[in-house]
Amino acid sequence: RLGFEIIGTGSYLPGKPVKNQDLMKTMDTSDDWIVQRSGIRQRHFAPDGVGASDLGAEAAKKAIAAAQINPQDIDYIIFATMTPDYVFPGSASLLGTKLGLDGIPSLDIRQQCAAMLYGLHLVDSLIRSGAAKVILFVAAETHAGFMPWTDWSFVDSEEFVVSKEQWALASHHRSIAILFGDGAGALVFRATSREAGLLGIDLHSDGRYADLLHVPGGGFRRRPYWTEEMLQQDAHIPRMYGRDLFKLAVTKLPESIQALAHSTSTSLEQIEWFLAHQANERINEYVRKKLEIPKEKMPSNIEQVGNTSGATIPILIDELTREGKLRVGDLNMVFALGAGVHWGSALLRW
Ligand code: ACO
Repeated sequence: RLGFEIIGTGSYLPGKPVKNQDLMKTMDTSDDWIVQRSGIRQRHFAPDGVGASDLGAEAAKKAIAAAQINPQDIDYIIFATMTPDYVFPGSASLLGTKLGLDGIPSLDIRQQCAAMLYGLHLVDSLIRSGAAKVILFVAAETHAGFMPWTDWSFVDSEEFVVSKEQWALASHHRSIAILFGDGAGALVFRATSREAGLLGIDLHSDGRYADLLHVPGGGFRRRPYWTEEMLQQDAHIPRMYGRDLFKLAVTKLPESIQALAHSTSTSLEQIEWFLAHQANERINEYVRKKLEIPKEKMPSNIEQVGNTSGATIPILIDELTREGKLRVGDLNMVFALGAGVHWGSALLRW
């Protein structure tokens, strides 16, 4: 049986960190509220004109360098983003071109915060079928594009004076504004005959919950697809029912992890690392306590990075790899729930 191994990792966070205290200059919130409800202290935002494919390319270059391969050995690209450069085409081909990898197949996936799980499923299938040997998986987000403000000068200026309109708009959408940050993570996967790769996966999607986190505007169901009226309704800013998503996450994630452990005859004690999507520290703490997972086995970086949607797990994997914590042979569990909703867990031998 052909498995896969991760031979290179990379990540990229744009610009300088934007702290909770910076956000307090532009909307009604507090550092205490944000830290207590989410665990987040800072996040990064991409500048105007920088797309997910740009952030992704920076992370990918680092992953390719770490893998010590000839970039031309890559025979497939999978790119995950919910904030693509354009409505269409997807950003995978743009990313390929930025890396000088023109002509090889590239695929966009749209599984939001659950992208890593679907990415792993695809990597496993492509490698096992013999369709690909070296796959570049990249996840990148530019949530800055939907932040509820147009004047960004509060980030640089202590003397920033907020307009009434900006304060009202940002405060109205504050649960989105405090949660999301920008960044990219990249992983290079290679086929191996070693006992490594995906040992099991538990995947789910359920469109009944799609409204819990969605962007109302910009789709083609309504004609014309973009109207003045939609702009007035802030239709470019996501609507999130945070409490419902929270409840769904703390129910579905433990269920999925337990089902996967059962179907692979694995006990949770055998698992070295639980690599969780960094949506909200409180969600992960809830899952951890429910499953009695020791704190040191579930690493977190949300405090410094925020929720970068599909990019959180690849960024975390890059950090842990560079710290020498993820070792060959370890049994690790990845889990996530994201808009759609899509959720699940994956068991991997490193
Ligand atoms: N600052 C201060 N007060 C705030 C803020 C803020 N930034 N945001 C909301 N509040 C207030 C609300 O107005 C509300 O006040 P009220 O009780 O007077 O009405 C109160 O705080 C509680 O608001 P909730 O929205 O219920 O707060 P909650 O504890 O649920 O925390 C949060 C909000 C952090 C968004 C949380 O619900 C969450 O993280 N949910 C899950 C998010 C998630 O998992 N998303 C999916 C993954 S991401 C993806 O797929 C792309």
